[in-house]
Amino acid sequence: MNHRRAPEASRSALVPQALAEIEGSPEGGDWSRAFGHLTVMGPEAVGELRIRPGGTYVDATLGGGGHSRLILEALGAEGRLIALDQDSEPLDWAVKGWGRQEPRLKAVAGNFGELGDILAGLALGGVDGILLDLGLSSRQLAAPGRGFSWVSDEPLDMRLNQEGGLTAREVVNRYPEKELADLIWRYGEERASRRLARAMVTARRQKPLATTGELAALVARSLYRPGPPPRIHPATRTFMALRIEVNHELTALEKFLKSAPGLLRPGGRLVIISFHSLEDRLVKEAFRAKDEEGRCPWLALHKKPVTPGQAELDRNPRARSAKLRAAEKTPV
Ligand SMILES: C[S@@+](CC[C@H](N)C(=O)[O-])C[C@H]1O[C@@H](n2cnc3c(N)ncnc32)[C@H](O)[C@@H]1O
Repeated sequence: MNHRRAPEASRSALVPQALAEIEGSPEGGDWSRAFGHLTVMGPEAVGELRIRPGGTYVDATLGGGGHSRLILEALGAEGRLIALDQDSEPLDWAVKGWGRQEPRLKAVAGNFGELGDILAGLALGGVDGILLDLGLSSRQLAAPGRGFSWVSDEPLDMRLNQEGGLTAREVVNRYPEKELADLIWRYGEERASRRLARAMVTARRQKPLATTGELAALVARSLYRPGPPPRIHPATRTFMALRIEVNHELTALEKFLKSAPGLLRPGGRLVIISFHSLEDRLVKEAFRAKDEEGRCPWLALHKKPVTPGQAELDRNPRARSAKLRAAEKTPV
């Protein structure tokens, strides 16, 4: 198996440590649980790909590899899977862990917004199917040192690709108040966005906001209302908004959706699981969009998005906002 660029760039010793703890293979062979992420709508998503045994498929959001392993199970000996992630940890987990003896797997570091260039670099023409399971894995949300969580007080980072780029600290301390308010409103769907942006700007005049704990406490203070505690932490929406901004998540999705018809062979399938209404809207609109000649390159496979069943929701409440859409590339 090949692997471009990731192991040496690995941000931490967490994956080697986790692999050492499970000594070759986790209990019951459950790699997803050992990674700390439960795969969402695995059989449904991989079923929609309608895998041809000898085909070439892309899992553009590798994570703990749950979908990738299901794709490999469905593929024959001649099939190929390109698995992409912009975070080095899932790549390490595949290369050194579950996929170390898997010749059909090629793990690649990169952003799915650049998938066209990545596939061209691998000299691959059209592929038979692409899967995106958007957002973050539960491991990323919970892992110490990533700056996604306020459970431990840590630097405000939130970058998925740790090799550079904007951090959440820069966003909260440098963005003008209006821009902060707008992004918290738009990406976080937070009604009190103006109040929060004002509170951040006031606080940073005294001292830059540096940690997740400081920011979460500021948000909780600003949104405080007497009465029973809220169902979710008051900072949840603000943290989601900052994460989307830091990682340019919607821009990457838009870019990918524009390129996707050119990446698939006719009859090839695209399956996308999203967790945010703005992402789902982008996918829905892309599946209806027409090209310059007025033709739509997609045949959407469902009128409404597919959502997880009750048994999955009981097992994994984090799946509750998942929406799956799938489409087939039409012959042109
Ligand atoms: C929800 S997790 C995928 C979980 C995986 N399907 C599983 O079952 O184990 C999403 C993964 O996509 C990665 N990711 C998010 N945005 C990305 C992008 N624009 N390009 C490449 N990877 C991305 C994240 O780093 C994360 O590892």
